[in-house]
Amino acid sequence: MTLVTTEQAPPDVAAAAHTAPSPVRIKVEGLSKRFDKVLAVDAIDFAVPAGSFTALLGGNGAGKTTTIAMLLGLVQPSAGRIEILGHDLARAPHAALRAMNFQSPYADLPRRLTVRQNLNVYGRLYGVRHIRERIDELAAALDLKTLLDRPLGELSAGQRTRAGIAKAFINTPSVILLDEPTASLDPDTADWVRTYLAQYARDANATFLIASHNMQEVERLCDQVLMMRFGRIVDRGSPKELLIRYGRTNLEDVFLDVARDRRAP
Ligand SMILES: Nc1ncnc2c1ncn2[C@@H]1O[C@H](COP(=O)(O)OP(=O)(O)OP(=O)(O)O)[C@@H](O)[C@H]1O
Ligand SMILES: [Mg+2]
Repeated sequence: MTLVTTEQAPPDVAAAAHTAPSPVRIKVEGLSKRFDKVLAVDAIDFAVPAGSFTALLGGNGAGKTTTIAMLLGLVQPSAGRIEILGHDLARAPHAALRAMNFQSPYADLPRRLTVRQNLNVYGRLYGVRHIRERIDELAAALDLKTLLDRPLGELSAGQRTRAGIAKAFINTPSVILLDEPTASLDPDTADWVRTYLAQYARDANATFLIASHNMQEVERLCDQVLMMRFGRIVDRGSPKELLIRYGRTNLEDVFLDVARDRRAP
């Protein structure tokens, strides 16, 4: 691989390196989901560039989990289009899903298997070559070493979440979807996990979509925030842009403004 630094490159190449937008890794157009009488997701559009974090924020029932489940092919959309890494999810699901991974309450891990056995099974499903080494790497990064040989069903909620997060990285994915990844974690463990996510995004130029109710997490990690209400994206921007738009000093107040339909001035 040839590395060209901007110092060595001619001026036009250097300018392009600074201005070229990152390629879009997740593209969603007119996506909707109706469950009988409930319109859970209502014609949403968004794009997530490579190497960035996007947060889905919104109250209970806003449509975050349903959106993630559609992106994973676990829930069939009622309308709209999903493109992941340039592949149309409806037409080429395997090409898209191979390079993705996730942690979601929609898909619990088998509880009779140990953490190691679970990671082994998923590693094989994704065709991971050096599974043992990959499991050891993840166990070290996510502080899971002492839990590897315990059955998942015996673990606490937070310990199971950590195992689920390790599973989400087993195939070194380039697109990762996480549904409230730190909700059941103590502050110390949550910090380990956030540090790992940020480092992974940098190292692998990976793309993250995260549903979260933790505003500090969103402020720390995310480049783009999609504010959801009743299935719609009612506002969007970087955490900084939203703070300025709503005249607030923290995202929690922005969240309350949106949840209570106090629109940005
Ligand atoms: N399988 C289902 N069948 C019927 N309705 C559903 C189903 N899944 C979700 N819904 C409804 O769709 C809406 C959106 O739910 P969703 O789980 O996407 O919300 P959420 O934003 O993830 O909320 P939370 O913050 O509570 O996790 C809710 O009104 C919910 O009741
Ligand atoms: Mg949810």
